[in-house]
Amino acid sequence: MAAATTDHPTNTTYRTTHAKLAAWVDEVSELTQPDSIYWCDGTDEEWNRLTDELVAAGTFVRLDESKKPNSFWCASDPSDVARVEDRTFICSQNAEDAGPTNNWMDPSEMKSVLNDLYSGSMRGRTMYVIPFVMGHLDADKPMFGVEITDSAYVVASMRVMARMGMDVLDKIESTEADFVPCLHSVGAPLEPGEADIAWPCNDTKYIVHFPEERAIWSYGSGYGGNALLGKKCYSLRIASAMAHDEGWLAEHMLILKLTNPEGVVKYVAAAFPSACGKTNLAMITPTIPGWKAETLGDDIAWMRFGKDGRLYAVNPEDGLFGVAPGTGYGTNPNAMKAIEQGNSVFTNVALTDDGDIWWEGMTDEPPAHLTDWKGRDWTPASSEKAAHPNSRFCTPIRQCPIIADEYDDPRGVPIDAILFGGRRKTTIPLVTEARDWTHGTFMGATLSSETTAAATGAVGVVRRDPMAMLPFMGYNAGDYFQHWLNVGKDADSSKLPRIFYVNWFRRDDDGGFLWPGFGENSRVLKWVFERIQGTVDAVETPVGRVPAPGSLDIDGLDVTEDDIAKALAVKPEEWRDELPQITEWFEKFGEKLPSIFWSELDGLRERLG
Ligand code: PEP
Ligand code: NA
Ligand code: MN
Repeated sequence: MAAATTDHPTNTTYRTTHAKLAAWVDEVSELTQPDSIYWCDGTDEEWNRLTDELVAAGTFVRLDESKKPNSFWCASDPSDVARVEDRTFICSQNAEDAGPTNNWMDPSEMKSVLNDLYSGSMRGRTMYVIPFVMGHLDADKPMFGVEITDSAYVVASMRVMARMGMDVLDKIESTEADFVPCLHSVGAPLEPGEADIAWPCNDTKYIVHFPEERAIWSYGSGYGGNALLGKKCYSLRIASAMAHDEGWLAEHMLILKLTNPEGVVKYVAAAFPSACGKTNLAMITPTIPGWKAETLGDDIAWMRFGKDGRLYAVNPEDGLFGVAPGTGYGTNPNAMKAIEQGNSVFTNVALTDDGDIWWEGMTDEPPAHLTDWKGRDWTPASSEKAAHPNSRFCTPIRQCPIIADEYDDPRGVPIDAILFGGRRKTTIPLVTEARDWTHGTFMGATLSSETTAAATGAVGVVRRDPMAMLPFMGYNAGDYFQHWLNVGKDADSSKLPRIFYVNWFRRDDDGGFLWPGFGENSRVLKWVFERIQGTVDAVETPVGRVPAPGSLDIDGLDVTEDDIAKALAVKPEEWRDELPQITEWFEKFGEKLPSIFWSELDGLRERLG
């Protein structure tokens, strides 16, 4: 299809009535000097025009309409494939407020560095203005943002990931609402006559947050978590700072609705580090008869107390930005069905010869020939993977065949259980129930996981990832722990979600997984559900409560009670190794560490004997 040439004077000459927005757009355009300014309206027509332009520019390849309608393949620069945690900054006024887990620079110093980089950085490009709302437009207090970007890829992706466009802008203007300004430039200005490349970016990258000002400045990367600023930057880093000030929680959690065979419903939120199966659990197909799961979110949960004293969660996003490899008809058929409906952008996956996409784990048999994510010929004999391990599908969440009706309810859903989980070969049992909110907060604060390809850097290294928020906390982690404790202290404890710690990834001595995972995780969800109902038993261990023998439903599963015992085992010698690691982790926070965590750790040490 030829690139559309229609000019859109309404969008290029638009003047907003919103004083702060008008001033900011003027200021940014003077600084970055784009060729033109374009206000995104979020229409299908705009999507068609932008995606045609991206195809013409060589950034997108349109997939075969009969296989993946209205969908595109895209390969990034090989250096721009993941979040860059070492280039991510929390620029609070005081260094202490960013805490020991974040990079920090003085905000005015950072602004001067970035102003130099942004100066003329959009030359030769269009500056897009994307009005968006995280969560519902008709929420009590809609959470607005406006992203300015010089990347059409970002506009297309933001349209999938967030509610955006003219209805959002109308409401920002008519209610004179405040918004989070999100500035993004790929940092690749074009000289007059200079041809663009498929994936412009810059070796210098900064992903910067000003938590007090509630502002985001991102430079040099086009990759998802670095560039789609409504997602990690706003909905986790900035929102966590807002939540701290306002008494709610912005968390790296999926949201799942579970219905038992009797029709009883419970809602579960679950925090796992990136690439540890949040999307799979969010779309689980239960293997146990009569149980039903429905999806509300796969990455982020905003949780606020309702008037009834319960904690209600909404998913602020409107799309999936899932890790592609490992997503297949066997592991996550619901994600595959969502993807099949099209309307998606695939980044760094492989391209098939007939205009479809493929990645490792999609099917058992790889196609005989592919174009790999670096644009090279690939066959099953190739030594490298066809898709980058952090390749992604970007797909509207409403296409998920098991999306829950409550997804459209701006009040959200009352959470009954919170799961924390990581990827650990040893030590951590399949499931452990916390004694109470404080103990659950301690479990979350000591959560550990082996690193994955979702961020640049080494893979497979055990690190502490508190509440799976290590890369996403917008303020001091010690204050964050105290905030979690305060949330529990201020609440009616009978109405708080129960907290559990899960580990699907424990191995036996031969390196094999002790638990089959995927749909079988519904058995653990059933145990959690029935613990809340009070209908199954648990046994006390030094680290918390694990399923009593026989209480975990393994009916029809090809594992023995002995395997289950190994998956649930609390081995004092493994936990004694864990103690100095936890001590070292806690010492990082100095005075900011809630002292009750030291008491929890002492109690654990004593119980281990
Ligand atoms: C991302 O990196 O863009 C992203 C969605 O984050 P995560 O690593 O949590 O998948
Ligand atoms: Na959208
Ligand atoms: Mn995530």
